[in-house]
Amino acid sequence: MVNQIHQSQPSRVTALSSKDRDTPISALTAYDYPTARILDENGIDLILVGDSLGMVVLGHNDTTNVTIDMMVHHTSACRPAINNAALVADLPYESYETPKQAIASSNSLIQAGADGIKLEGGSEIIPQITAIIETSIPVIGHIGFLPQSIESEGGYKKKGKSSDEYSKILSDAICLEKAGVAAVVLESIVSDLAAEITETLKIPTIGIGSGTNCDGQIRVIHDITGNFPWFTPPFAKPLCNIADEISSAVKKYIRSI
Ligand code: KIV
Repeated sequence: MVNQIHQSQPSRVTALSSKDRDTPISALTAYDYPTARILDENGIDLILVGDSLGMVVLGHNDTTNVTIDMMVHHTSACRPAINNAALVADLPYESYETPKQAIASSNSLIQAGADGIKLEGGSEIIPQITAIIETSIPVIGHIGFLPQSIESEGGYKKKGKSSDEYSKILSDAICLEKAGVAAVVLESIVSDLAAEITETLKIPTIGIGSGTNCDGQIRVIHDITGNFPWFTPPFAKPLCNIADEISSAVKKYIRSI
C-alpha cells in the first residue's frame, strides 16, 4: 500500500550527480518516519537509510549483523515521510556477494521505496555495481574506511595515510566513476586525498570524516543531534543534545505522576 502511494524516484538520485550546484550536497541518515519527515521538511538533499542502523538504532557493535530484511523494514518506514529528498538505502553486509545477489538485494530496497542504493567497496565490486546500474537503479559508491570490513580493518582507522593506500583509494574512485555511480561517499580518508578525488571526478564526492574539500557532507543523524551519547566519532560535532532533552523530559514525567 505504502509503495503504491510513494513510488521510488530514481531521478532524485541522478539529479544529485551534477557538480554544477550552488550549494554543497547535504545528506543525513534516517531510519524511521518522524526523522525522515523532519529532515525532508527542512530541505535535506539526500536521506540515507544507512546500515549504521545496526549501531545507533539496534545497539550492535558494528554494522555486520544488519540484514536486507532490516534495511527493507526501515526504508519502508522512511518512504512515506519524504516528498523532496533523494532516499538512498545501504546494501548491508554480505547482501552483494555476486552480481545476481546484488541485483536481488537492490530490487528489494527499491520495492521498499528507495530511489537508489549505496554499497561499500572499490574495484573488487565493479561487476556488482555494473549489474545494478544496468537494471536502471542509481548507485552511490562508498570508499575509504569501510565499516562492513571492520574485522579485516582491525578497527576504525583514517585511510590513505600510506602512499599505497592513497593510490588504491584514488584509483577506486576513478573505477567507480567509470562504472557509472551517481556520487561517491568518502569515509574517513585524509583530507588531501578527498580534495584530489573531488578535483579529479566529474561526479560529486560526499565526505564523512574526510575534511571539507568534498562536494557534500553526510553524517549519521545521531552524531549531530547527540542522540547516541555513548559514542561520538572524532569528526562528529553534535549541534544539539537530544539525549539531555530526553533525560530531562523523563525526569519531569517521573516527578509529575
Ligand atoms: O551507514 C551509514 O550511516 C553510512 C555513513 C556514510 C553515513 O554509510
